[in-house]
Amino acid sequence: MSELPEHVRRNRESWDSWAHEYVEAAERNWAAADPTWGIWGVPESDLRMLPEDADGLDVIELGCGTAYVSAWLARRGARPVGIDNSEAQLETARRLQAEHRIEFPLHHGNAEDVPFPDASFDFAISEYGASIWCDPYRWIPETARLLRPGGGLVFLVNSVLLSLCVPDAENEAASDRLLRPQFGMHRFEWSDDDSVEFHLPHGEMLALLRANGFDVEELLDVRPPDGSTTRYPFVTLEWAQRWPCEEVWKARRR
Ligand SMILES: C[S@@+](CC[C@H](N)C(=O)[O-])C[C@H]1O[C@@H](n2cnc3c(N)ncnc32)[C@H](O)[C@@H]1O
Repeated sequence: MSELPEHVRRNRESWDSWAHEYVEAAERNWAAADPTWGIWGVPESDLRMLPEDADGLDVIELGCGTAYVSAWLARRGARPVGIDNSEAQLETARRLQAEHRIEFPLHHGNAEDVPFPDASFDFAISEYGASIWCDPYRWIPETARLLRPGGGLVFLVNSVLLSLCVPDAENEAASDRLLRPQFGMHRFEWSDDDSVEFHLPHGEMLALLRANGFDVEELLDVRPPDGSTTRYPFVTLEWAQRWPCEEVWKARRR
């Protein structure tokens, strides 16, 4: 464990301790016929995060957690592989694989340094996985290496605006005040736990993707439908219907 980067080691300890809180959502999502995304459960028909035709695609889910996204892809004919930094999260994934009789490889490891050869995959996806817990200056180049030319990358993250407005206090929701600068944003540490997150401004993310051989095809501001609910206290529906609290990036490897 000592060879892991400091933020990866800290996030491993955090996620091993939080995994039990994600079991219920995992069971619900594994059982769901229709995918829903993010903290509000926005339907796939609104966001179209999965490939139109996944049949036969080699797919990697980066920071797969309980791996329900990979399960949705497997049901659509893809050959997914999941990688996650938390053995406890993967334990839930393995149990649900057995219960649903959907088997695919699950690797315990760091999505910034993936043990697969260059150009192994047609599609990479991350919903709050590598996309927020890995350093983008490490996981984006690594994903570019793993994808074949023409391969797709889709990821969902907290929006830039939310990252600037969310208070560093447990159970407090974002207000309409900017609490920190956008210039220089990259690594985030919160005072109530030991984890490390990464969030980049749009211009910097765009430049990073392009520098690593990606064309950006879409940047979606996620607006939850009326009546949406979330178990997370850091944003209200009123806020999320006025400003985007989540965003989806869709890019393609040149
Ligand atoms: C919020 S879960 C994402 C899974 C699922 N889509 C979800 O939203 O519940 C975040 C996952 O990222 C994983 N993670 C954190 N750092 C990672 C890293 N360096 N490499 C791979 N996975 C990582 C955590 O272990 C955790 O399972």
